Amino acid sequence: MRFGIKTLDDFDVKGKTVLCRIDINQPVDRASGKLKSINRIQACVPTIRELSEKGARIVLMAHQGSDIEYKNYYTTRPHAEVLSNLLGFEVKWVEDVCGPTARDEIKNLKDGEVLLLDNVRFMAEEQTLFETKLCLSHEEQAKTQVVTKLAPLGDLYVCDAFAAAHRDQPTLCGFEQLLPSAMGRLFEKEYCTVSALMEEPKRPCVFVLGGAKIADAFQMMKTVLSKGSADLVLTGGLVANIFLASQNVQIGQGSLDFILKSNYGQFIDVARELYEQFGDKIVLPSDLAWVSDGKRCEAAVGEIPADISAVDIGSRTAARYREEILAAKTVFVNGPAGVFEQEPSELGTKTIWQALADTDAFTVLGGGDSITATEKYKLTDKIGYICTGGGALIRFLSGEELPVVRALRHGAMIGEK
Ligand code: 3PG
Repeated sequence: MRFGIKTLDDFDVKGKTVLCRIDINQPVDRASGKLKSINRIQACVPTIRELSEKGARIVLMAHQGSDIEYKNYYTTRPHAEVLSNLLGFEVKWVEDVCGPTARDEIKNLKDGEVLLLDNVRFMAEEQTLFETKLCLSHEEQAKTQVVTKLAPLGDLYVCDAFAAAHRDQPTLCGFEQLLPSAMGRLFEKEYCTVSALMEEPKRPCVFVLGGAKIADAFQMMKTVLSKGSADLVLTGGLVANIFLASQNVQIGQGSLDFILKSNYGQFIDVARELYEQFGDKIVLPSDLAWVSDGKRCEAAVGEIPADISAVDIGSRTAARYREEILAAKTVFVNGPAGVFEQEPSELGTKTIWQALADTDAFTVLGGGDSITATEKYKLTDKIGYICTGGGALIRFLSGEELPVVRALRHGAMIGEK
């Protein structure tokens, strides 16, 4: 038991049917049906292998795609193939979530075998819009189709989906009402590492916040600055542009139009207030970059042409951020400093990521774009801890109690059948 949650060490799983929720949500190339990255699938392997070697009958539940931002659901079939290759034995797959076909497959599992169900979000009750509109309690989630059909077939529920721990959905929070529950090894590692770091970060503790997930970034910044967890926040990406706009600095009409068109105008006021309160700890870019005729151009803040769109921090800012990262003892990173996918606008992100590799500080990074940048610069081995979660990590660092953590604590009190 750790943090009031049971772990795999608390159960003898031999011959038991384990309902295991994982997060293997990956970018998919729809034309070929192939997964563009498999990092989250790799991260789940230790739990699945351990359960299989201990003789459990493993039923994997997972989602692929999101209804809110992207409307891009996809089957989990390719994931079963990747998992089979990683584990070195067949992972069965069924084109069903909790109907008769899935239930028959579950009943036929033998010790050590693994079955992956199709995308749980094909069930309406598992969708994020359902979660945010209906706000079902965990007790109510235990009465949904997916939980009432599958829970009777399981002996134990294991959640290894830290990356989805901020979601209040039946396959994440409903089973813990009915079955003894534990966190998987990945969940345990992620939750314990990040909790320990947040409790007592080694100082100076620097946050590097960029990217375009604005509401999350501002929420997190407010918390870590008010709680004193962050000694310094280095801003990049859209986050920096919003701060600069809040100080009436010219960021180019294209940048401003983008902020307003994306409904982020409200954050200009939030940024102004934060800067008034914590201006000594928030570092804004001193120069910015834009692209003209395919070439990178830069100017100091205050000399930015009115008609451009800023796509990166400038090289002076990047050099300053590198110095701060080298001098830090702990660094959290969320979001790139610019449009790193394209060469003329990657300098800021590339410099920061190289600094993460060079610093002696403990570095923690999470979120889809940050992980993609790490892979692009081949620095995966150089980062202290790469969290599979983006939204979950941000909400955790924002001080929110994650719904899945609350549910698992409840599940820890349910005895074995
Ligand atoms: C993620 O990609 O952050 C997790 O898989 C959760 O996905 P969601 O934001 O679509 O719920």
